[in-house]
Amino acid sequence: MIPLVDLKKQYLSIKKEIDAAINDIIERTAFVGGKDLKNFESRFAEMTGAKYAIGVSSGTTALYVSMIALGLKRSDEVITVPNTFIATSESITEAGGRVVFVDIDEETYNIDVKKLEKAINKKTKAIIPVHLYGQSCDIEGVIKVAQKHNLKVIFDACQSHLSAFKNEPLGKFGDCVCYSFYPGKNLGAYGDGGIITTNDEELARKMWMLIDHGRWNKKYEHDIEGYNCRLDTLQAAILNVKLNYLSLWTRKRQEAAAKYNKLLKDTGLILPKVADYASHVYHLYVIRLKERDKVLKILNDAGIQAGVHYPIPLHLQKAYEYLGHRNGDFPAAEDSCLSVLSLPMFPEISDEEINQVVAVLKQAIK
Ligand SMILES: Cc1ncc(COP(=O)(O)O)c(C=O)c1O
Repeated sequence: MIPLVDLKKQYLSIKKEIDAAINDIIERTAFVGGKDLKNFESRFAEMTGAKYAIGVSSGTTALYVSMIALGLKRSDEVITVPNTFIATSESITEAGGRVVFVDIDEETYNIDVKKLEKAINKKTKAIIPVHLYGQSCDIEGVIKVAQKHNLKVIFDACQSHLSAFKNEPLGKFGDCVCYSFYPGKNLGAYGDGGIITTNDEELARKMWMLIDHGRWNKKYEHDIEGYNCRLDTLQAAILNVKLNYLSLWTRKRQEAAAKYNKLLKDTGLILPKVADYASHVYHLYVIRLKERDKVLKILNDAGIQAGVHYPIPLHLQKAYEYLGHRNGDFPAAEDSCLSVLSLPMFPEISDEEINQVVAVLKQAIK
């Protein structure tokens, strides 16, 4: 069996360090807040090119807290894309906003900046572009439109740790950048976790307060009402160990992608297209093909855990029926949902595993 992601292999490669970090937290009973969390936050901020990083309980809460901190109000509209995990749009609704979709570029699968302006009106407050699969969107293009219309920009980088735009780390851009540490992500916790980065000191302080009952350093003094959505210290300690390996693991993902590219180049399959401004960190290696479902079944039957990200665009999900969209509203996103296929991708994937995936895939498309 070749899994889509092999978390066990990764754990075994750093078991001693991880076990020691977990034991240390338990021995010290240092479960909430503290130096491990602060240390992780500042290291993560530095590695992603931002001034501040606020650890939170998941990527979903990262998005939600960012919107609340930026002052989203009831009936404000927030723009995002239909080909993302529902957390992106869900958090808009949860924060009191209204979801507005914009179609994607068919080659990069990221927001189509050319279509952005048409979706903006007086109610538009923010844009949440997604850096999907590990590749940054056209950040400059988005920011230009956002500045023209005075909109906030929250980047959903839940799949794009250590990705870059024109060689600059993602933390340099936008009001906030949100990351997920869901276990299968490029930097994954051993449970749920997430983080928000920003370069705005006041905003950072507000977010630290929001995620910890609206207080600042004093246990029972609350300046505002907040929530409890802190990042667990146990997770921060694990992530501190894993952060040491993230650059190496990213390179290994890129090497694995290069191997797939080489082996699949004359097959007629559509391979990942890396925009000239982007550096791709291959959270997912996504190809595109006709008769995707048949090929997926052949791969799965052969013990290869390929997947689909995502099979149904959000505007056609039952959850968004109330928006009144129909098939054809966002054709590029709809086409991608019918034809994308994610092949096994993780830093530890071996050459033999890649060869095996490719052999079955080539046989399947014959
Ligand atoms: C693009 C995207 N946005 C948001 C999320 C939500 O992150 P989490 O699962 O940590 O809440 C995820 C991950 O699942 C994601 O892939």
